[in-house]
Amino acid sequence: MMTQSPSSGTQTPPELAIQTRDLNLWYGTFQALFDVNLNIKKGIITSLIGPSGCGKSTFLRSVDRINERLGYVRIKGSIEVYNQNVYAPSVELAQLRKQVGMVFQRPNPLPISIRENILFGYRIHNEKGGRIAKSEAEGIVEDALRQVLLWDQMKDRLDNKATVGLSLEEMQKLCIARLLPVKPTILLMDEPCSALDPKGTAAVEELIWELRGRYSILIVTHNMAQARRASEECIFMLMGRVVEHSPTEKLFVTPVHQETADYIEGRYG
Ligand SMILES: Nc1ncnc2c1ncn2[C@@H]1O[C@H](COP(=O)(O)OP(=O)(O)OP(=O)(O)O)[C@@H](O)[C@H]1O
Ligand SMILES: [Mg+2]
Repeated sequence: MMTQSPSSGTQTPPELAIQTRDLNLWYGTFQALFDVNLNIKKGIITSLIGPSGCGKSTFLRSVDRINERLGYVRIKGSIEVYNQNVYAPSVELAQLRKQVGMVFQRPNPLPISIRENILFGYRIHNEKGGRIAKSEAEGIVEDALRQVLLWDQMKDRLDNKATVGLSLEEMQKLCIARLLPVKPTILLMDEPCSALDPKGTAAVEELIWELRGRYSILIVTHNMAQARRASEECIFMLMGRVVEHSPTEKLFVTPVHQETADYIEGRYG
């Protein structure tokens, strides 16, 4: 009798965090994304690079549906987050935003205490109408701050205002921390280090690397060295299209397309 060992079968494909099919997006009559077909893997860091205006932020904003706040955005095609079409009528935006957290270029903590920044999203999503027992709240705050490597610095000033007395690096880490209590599976980061100095950049990069595995991370960056250091796969976009998506080292060392080679060698934008 023939027996089949696990290794002799076909390899199971990697689990996907985000999958798009023929995604096209228009701002009014201007088309910003063309036939984007991406399979972004679970549990790794994927970087998204390309010249200014190529559609990186547009893509990120489509995944958690921030784009649709603008009445003139139209989308064709599909985006799935863990096999669920995010544009299906049954999808609740609040649920989607819980699952997919977004970090922006400028750290944007709320002008309330460090503690309340971290509890803010949790209170909104909490069925008990925002009421949380003190001990539960303490656990949530400590866990989130530990995950972003801020606990030791912040534990004695949790009641201080988050917008005063924190470095940009600390604020950006706090902005990552406040996403975590609602247990997102995907973190989207749009140039999260571009407002930081080199030391801050290194520290936030280190943190992002630290979070890998626990979250699927998609990070937009203009900094080629950062993409190379801090991601396992890399996507190169040009004028609204995906040109290449490969393991990062491969994309930088042996790119398949001439446009990719031109970009990483700094021949344009
Ligand atoms: N709200 C908007 N309304 C109209 N057009 C927009 C809007 N946002 C972006 N665009 C256009 O869509 C295209 C893609 O923009 P997007 O911001 O996604 O690029 P990007 O790759 O993130 O650029 P950058 O590196 O400068 O951040 C650009 O031509 C831009 O002008
Ligand atoms: Mg952008």
